[in-house]
Amino acid sequence: MLEVKHLSVKYGSIRAVEDASFTAESGSLVAVLGQNGAGKSTLLNTVAGLMKPAGGTVMFRGRDITGKESHLLVREGIVLVPEGRHVVGSMSVRDNLLLGTVRRSQYANLEKVFSLLPVLREKSGQRAGLLSGGEQQMLAIGRAVMSEPELILIDEPTLGLSPIMSASVLTFIRQLSDEGRTIVLVEQNIRQALKIADRVYFMQKGRTTDALSAVEVAQKLSFSFVSLSEGGAFEKQGPRW
Ligand SMILES: Nc1ncnc2c1ncn2[C@@H]1O[C@H](COP(=O)(O)OP(=O)(O)OP(=O)(O)O)[C@@H](O)[C@H]1O
Ligand SMILES: [Mg+2]
Repeated sequence: MLEVKHLSVKYGSIRAVEDASFTAESGSLVAVLGQNGAGKSTLLNTVAGLMKPAGGTVMFRGRDITGKESHLLVREGIVLVPEGRHVVGSMSVRDNLLLGTVRRSQYANLEKVFSLLPVLREKSGQRAGLLSGGEQQMLAIGRAVMSEPELILIDEPTLGLSPIMSASVLTFIRQLSDEGRTIVLVEQNIRQALKIADRVYFMQKGRTTDALSAVEVAQKLSFSFVSLSEGGAFEKQGPRW
């Protein structure tokens, strides 16, 4: 479905992403983990068409989409939920969701998003700026779902959220994946991400590791966990890096 090969991205002379490669099979949830400054957001933004790579290729459903702009990629089924949520605080929850559509026929997806996220239905007429941080994150993801994407790229959805709110956001992301969407999730919280990810890549100084399963990562880092699908629960206080 998504195949990124040897991608490099620069900010002037700074190499933020260097020879990064990863794949996401159709319907899978892939996590890209790494410390601050590793290049995760740059990688995701480049796949989403917000930045042009200096080298490498991005293939989506067998087609080369390297360097294609984000508004065109949304129409092809790729959508980014950027770091920092970016909901429009002065607009209603409902209007924020409608911003996610690319065709008028997609207005009908409001019902679908409201049934996935009942809290947004309750507050649909309220200004988005009045929502809690977690609710705003749900709104940002809900807005992405409005365009019926096949691939959702999500950058640090739990940043600044309480452990309970983080758990609900990640559970919701897993639910979107279980419904058949392909998801690439960037996270700093390893333990939480392992609970929902099918496969994991680490990023360090712009480079990616080979793919690992969640179990392999846990073994390497010497901790145990049970995945959400096997009845595992989220940590009350998931340690970050
Ligand atoms: N606009 C920019 N101009 C110059 N350098 C940048 C810019 N944005 C990011 N960088 C640099 O590129 C590198 C990768 O940054 P990036 O934001 O992709 O990392 P990240 O893994 O997402 O970090 P975080 O976990 O803090 O979000 C860092 O060294 C950063 O300083
Ligand atoms: Mg980032």
